[in-house]
Amino acid sequence: MKTILVTGGTGTLGRQLVPLLVKTGSKVRVLSRKERATENNVEYVTGDLATGEGVDAAVKGVDVIVHCAGSSKGDEVKTRHLTEAALQAGRPHLVFISVVGADQPSYAYFKSKLLSEEVVTASGLPWTTLRATQFHDLILVVMNALAKLPVMLAPSGFNFQPIDSGEVAARMAELALGEPAGLVADIGGPQVLSFKEMAREYLRATGKHRLVMPLPLFGKSARIVKAGSVLAPDHAYGRRTWAEFLGERSALPQKANTLSSESR
Ligand SMILES: NC(=O)c1ccc[n+]([C@@H]2O[C@H](COP(=O)([O-])OP(=O)(O)OC[C@H]3O[C@@H](n4cnc5c(N)ncnc54)[C@H](OP(=O)(O)O)[C@@H]3O)[C@@H](O)[C@H]2O)c1
Repeated sequence: MKTILVTGGTGTLGRQLVPLLVKTGSKVRVLSRKERATENNVEYVTGDLATGEGVDAAVKGVDVIVHCAGSSKGDEVKTRHLTEAALQAGRPHLVFISVVGADQPSYAYFKSKLLSEEVVTASGLPWTTLRATQFHDLILVVMNALAKLPVMLAPSGFNFQPIDSGEVAARMAELALGEPAGLVADIGGPQVLSFKEMAREYLRATGKHRLVMPLPLFGKSARIVKAGSVLAPDHAYGRRTWAEFLGERSALPQKANTLSSESR
């Protein structure tokens, strides 16, 4: 039986990954900044990767670490604290989630993911890194925010290939139970969609009426994204489309429905 630490086990990706790992009979531990009681066979350890506090205790005795903790910036520091502690704790297999486009860094988030990848590679730990495209959940948060205004601004020339975070979680579970594999094939969703198409689908699903206006973006970062840096068309791994994701969210009871609870 493997002991697996999941960082970010309370986040969008991690909270879907954790039950998959528990189901395999693994002993699962989650690192979180908030104190939580053991629940559903998951042990919670309090710690903060940004400061390194509590990380030594979290990595103690683990065979595998699935590193899903992340935020919009500073991920390389969090990853370094984690790898340094892991190296002292018996060199567990580190499975890291990165983002498609990290190797052609545009905006700060992508640069930070590339630096984190480099920390993982140079860590001295056996490692596996998976790059995924944007999760439907993230696109939904963006759409909910944009829909607060009467006009939705859609960056022109920006295409995305959103993927279901549950499908990414399933792939991460597979990698966590396998051997260290280095940088594995990217994964993306089933369709490449323009920002405008995603906004239109969102409006259809929510029944909202907004004008969708093109927003021209200039500069080096925008150019890199427009050239397709965040796409993995040859690795359309995901099955669930953006429209299906939105449709299922609309069908949820009012309380659990992020289409309604966050945006109306
Ligand atoms: N969202 C996307 O579209 C996407 C696409 C490709 C790759 N990724 C990558 O996938 C990973 C997970 O994304 P997500 O959308 O699931 O993230 P999320 O929902 O925002 O969750 C972030 C998680 O990181 C943990 N965390 C943040 N700062 C921490 C710190 N200083 N110490 C310890 N834990 C910390 C949080 O735990 P607590 O709050 O409990 O401490 C939370 O569980 C990230 O690395 C992200 O870069 C995301």
